Amino acid sequence: MNYNKKSIEDIEVAGKRVLCRCDFNVPTKDGKITSDKRIVAAMPTIEYLVKKGAKVILCSHMGKPKGEWKPELSLKIVADRLSQLLGKEVIMASDVVGEDAKAKAAALKEGDVMLLENTRYMKGETKNDPELSKELASMADIFVNDAFGAAHRAHASTAGAADYLPAVSGYLVQKEVSIMGKALANPERPFVAILGGAKVSDKLNVINNLLEKVDTLIIGGGMAYTFLAAQGYTVGKSLVDNEKLDYCKEMMAKAKAKGVNMLLPVDTAVAASFPNPIDAEIPVEYVDCTAIPSDQMGLDIGPKACEAFAAAAKAAKTVVWNGPMGVFENPTLAKGTIAVAQALADSDAVTIVGGGDSAAACEQLGFASQITHISTGGGASLEFLEGLELPGIACLQDK
Ligand code: 3PG
Repeated sequence: MNYNKKSIEDIEVAGKRVLCRCDFNVPTKDGKITSDKRIVAAMPTIEYLVKKGAKVILCSHMGKPKGEWKPELSLKIVADRLSQLLGKEVIMASDVVGEDAKAKAAALKEGDVMLLENTRYMKGETKNDPELSKELASMADIFVNDAFGAAHRAHASTAGAADYLPAVSGYLVQKEVSIMGKALANPERPFVAILGGAKVSDKLNVINNLLEKVDTLIIGGGMAYTFLAAQGYTVGKSLVDNEKLDYCKEMMAKAKAKGVNMLLPVDTAVAASFPNPIDAEIPVEYVDCTAIPSDQMGLDIGPKACEAFAAAAKAAKTVVWNGPMGVFENPTLAKGTIAVAQALADSDAVTIVGGGDSAAACEQLGFASQITHISTGGGASLEFLEGLELPGIACLQDK
């Protein structure tokens, strides 16, 4: 896929109505935003458009209202936060492509900013309905996609609108694509990928694609036990995806054939059961992965694995990390994830954390500022690592 796309700097935006798709799908609790990272990440594009005198029409989805008008998924709280960050009013529309949105869009003055309601209030959004795309486009002269986190979705507001307007990328999409794209296409070596997370089945294509590119592939987290089982070890009550044992064997053979160093944990934290609730205090023991007792389950990597993974990360010039090493929501079982986050923070390499849980872990643990790039995309960054074409980027004009 060609990632060399036109950006907001390649098009005249002054005085133009710009429909700018952002990913304002932020976490909330009791009606309050718990992390405004995605809003902050969209600011450079919004500030540029304002400074250039564009009439800015922002849009985004929030949650999965599935075409229903769910008030708890209104973007009003995002408009309020945006107003604070921008230091000026962000005009909130009460609908998406209805009378209110259209009237407010028509009345915008240069440098004004408005936000449409949750695009997923419209049934046509997730169906990429051309009628909705046309309605969205009818309010503007230019389409800017800055929603990297939603770029893997072919929806009316992420891709469809680009059929009816000149379409370019915003700074966030440009940054995500250039950092991750360079790491995958032309990495400084050694290139180390660290993958974790519960299930092998979530990462099938990521593992396959990364084996084409990396020097070392580290597998931790729940999915390591399926790899260990595929090597013939008994893993007790650990999570094993029996249907993927052959796949794991195939990937280990592929690594060998390509000369990729595949690292699995040599030791693991074990307990008799999964913590319930997830953050409950739990007694754990550390055992070698060759000796997991039959009545125990592996829930985190052990100290020897932490050391080995950290050493590989420290010796690397490029590191990509996606997925926690254990049940990191539990303090006792977060040690592996903390060790990896610490190793990335200490490394001089280009360090990239592909969104989701590992990004949240870096932020919660306070390592975020020491990482080269933490993606704002969860599913989108995974699909990027899989080498898939992202519709929200493919639809933009080539340079
Ligand atoms: C995300 O949170 O990963 C993006 O906003 C996409 O959301 P979705 O998975 O609901 O499409």
